[in-house]
Amino acid sequence: MLSNILITGAGGYVGGSLIAHFLANTNELIRRDQIIAAVRSQEQADALSKLGISVLQLDLSNEDSVVKSVLQHDISIVIHTASAMDPSMALPLITALGKQKQANGREACFIHTSGLGAFYEKTGWPTGLLRDTDDVFDTEKRLADSFPLRKTDVAVIEHAEKRGVNSFIVVPSTVYGQGSGEWNKLSVILPLYIRASLSAKAVYKFPDYSKVSGVHISDLTGLYGLIVERVLRRESLPSGREGYYFALAHDIFLGEVGDHLASELRDRGVTTKSEARRYSDEQAAAASMGVPVQFVQMLWDSDANIVAEIPRSIGWKPAWDKARFLRHIGDEVQAVLTLGRPRSSLVDSLLAPPRT
Ligand SMILES: NC(=O)c1ccc[n+]([C@@H]2O[C@H](COP(=O)([O-])OP(=O)(O)OC[C@H]3O[C@@H](n4cnc5c(N)ncnc54)[C@H](OP(=O)(O)O)[C@@H]3O)[C@@H](O)[C@H]2O)c1
Repeated sequence: MLSNILITGAGGYVGGSLIAHFLANTNELIRRDQIIAAVRSQEQADALSKLGISVLQLDLSNEDSVVKSVLQHDISIVIHTASAMDPSMALPLITALGKQKQANGREACFIHTSGLGAFYEKTGWPTGLLRDTDDVFDTEKRLADSFPLRKTDVAVIEHAEKRGVNSFIVVPSTVYGQGSGEWNKLSVILPLYIRASLSAKAVYKFPDYSKVSGVHISDLTGLYGLIVERVLRRESLPSGREGYYFALAHDIFLGEVGDHLASELRDRGVTTKSEARRYSDEQAAAASMGVPVQFVQMLWDSDANIVAEIPRSIGWKPAWDKARFLRHIGDEVQAVLTLGRPRSSLVDSLLAPPRT
């Protein structure tokens, strides 16, 4: 029996690209008519409806309407990208999947999208190497109250256990590349940095040792795709407390990004210098990008010390590495020039002035 797949946050960068990924990779396991998109606004619903798929305009925190939709559309797999932070959007979906499993006896599966910030020392994660085959869940549970991403991961895993639903936690690193969805096609971190450089007509760079982990959007959607295929083939794969899928394709050294960006913007005639200058400090970086300084510390100047074996153990082979990313930095610039500002409330919230 085929399982219908609901993708939440389908107007977003990751969710929209996932819809495109599944539509481009239909096979005997995943047919076009099994893909269902959940969006927030009417405009997003109109945009996605043009793809000829079912689109639900759902308030994800309303358990009654979520349960009704999941049962009505015979959904057994949910890929949740709408919020890594807010458990009140994830838990009703898991409850609904549990009810669906009771109703039709089919395995149900919830794939949650988290964020690497949950595992940064700067947010309170312990120092030292983390292996995804270690007891990640126990540490997350112990530290859950000190960071919302961790709290949500733990709530998802525990609620899924109670409801008999298989859970998977996908943890994207810094995602780059133009998205292939119908609404927001821009990610968060690089577009903000590029926009700041374009408007200053100068590139400022972070210290050479500043490093984040990165993944191209097509490799990220490929990872979700592999998990779904394995689930549909009923092959065993780590789930629940063992089901952490860190999408770490390669390192991104931010000093190198600054140098490549400076040369790209000089070639495009935006700047006159092909060398990047240095931000004097994090306050200056925050001011140039228009974000609070704590986001700079967390998003642009954090690295997680993680060895991720599980994604590769299920066959994940990212096609993008550091050299390819740097060679294509012009594509990142072009995406920002073409698309402007991300159509994303997540990005708007980063740009919002801090609450006093
Ligand atoms: N992009 C990255 O580099 C990255 C890295 C690590 C983790 N992540 C995580 O991955 C997830 C997706 O990120 P993204 O880059 O795709 O962000 P995005 O483009 O802002 O997409 C999020 C989508 O979820 C929708 N949404 C938010 N709150 C909702 C609600 N209450 N009800 C229904 N829909 C809601 C948004 O709708 P609106 O358009 O109406 O706001 C948007 O369409 C996020 O949780 C993010 O934290 C992203």
